[in-house]
Amino acid sequence: MRKPLIAGNWKMHGSSAFVADYAAALTAPGADVELLLLPPAPYLRELQTALHGMSVELGVQNVHDQPEGAYTGELSAEMARDLGAGWALVGHSERRALCGETDAVVAAKVVAARRAGLAALLCVGETLAEREAGSAEAVVQRQIRALADHAGVEAFSGLTIAYEPVWAIGTGRTATPEQAQEMHALVRQCVGDLCGRPAAARLRVLYGGSVKPDNAAALLGQTDIDGALVGGAALKAADFAAIAAAAGGTTIGDHE
Ligand code: PGA
Repeated sequence: MRKPLIAGNWKMHGSSAFVADYAAALTAPGADVELLLLPPAPYLRELQTALHGMSVELGVQNVHDQPEGAYTGELSAEMARDLGAGWALVGHSERRALCGETDAVVAAKVVAARRAGLAALLCVGETLAEREAGSAEAVVQRQIRALADHAGVEAFSGLTIAYEPVWAIGTGRTATPEQAQEMHALVRQCVGDLCGRPAAARLRVLYGGSVKPDNAAALLGQTDIDGALVGGAALKAADFAAIAAAAGGTTIGDHE
């Protein structure tokens, strides 16, 4: 069975005061949901301390592929782990678009996360132009297969994938639950083809792109949607907790 995972990506938002207020306002999730917060790395420790042992996992929004070296401004997966992170977000569309991260770079980062003992949360998803050209499926399949090509199928072990249509990120325009379900089924099928059916049945596939408290339940109710990667709405502790509450009781998935 797959336990729902609700992840909050703060992006480049926050401050020490924000961390304190957020942690004070966040209500503990039910035992049937896993929560993950991805603050800017400098606030990771502070957030961990402020959460006072509340069962919320923590991660970073990006890692470099090398463990150390002359890479000014970068953060290695080992350093993230040392800071208290258990997760690394990899291949977010903003990094693919703004920082030129290719499928090969993204694969190297998944490998780095695994090397450091971090769980990787890999983002895939098509742009609006790709969807309108009818190539959404092909793009997502390419992004997933690239991980196997560059890093081998072992890179999928322990992996979580977030399907985030780029046109739905920060736009208020969400994929319909049916559109999202269709793409999630495709992601699972693609991983099944590469790694076998049991691995695909275990894989958690999160939906991301304008998830809000009022649309979360419909999305999370879909068979192949195992959680959410939340941006804007994760900046309000009450909204993030409401999305987590919508995931409660939706544990789904095939028995192996
Ligand atoms: P959004 O961001 O919820 O603000 O659309 C999602 C994301 O970028 O992961």
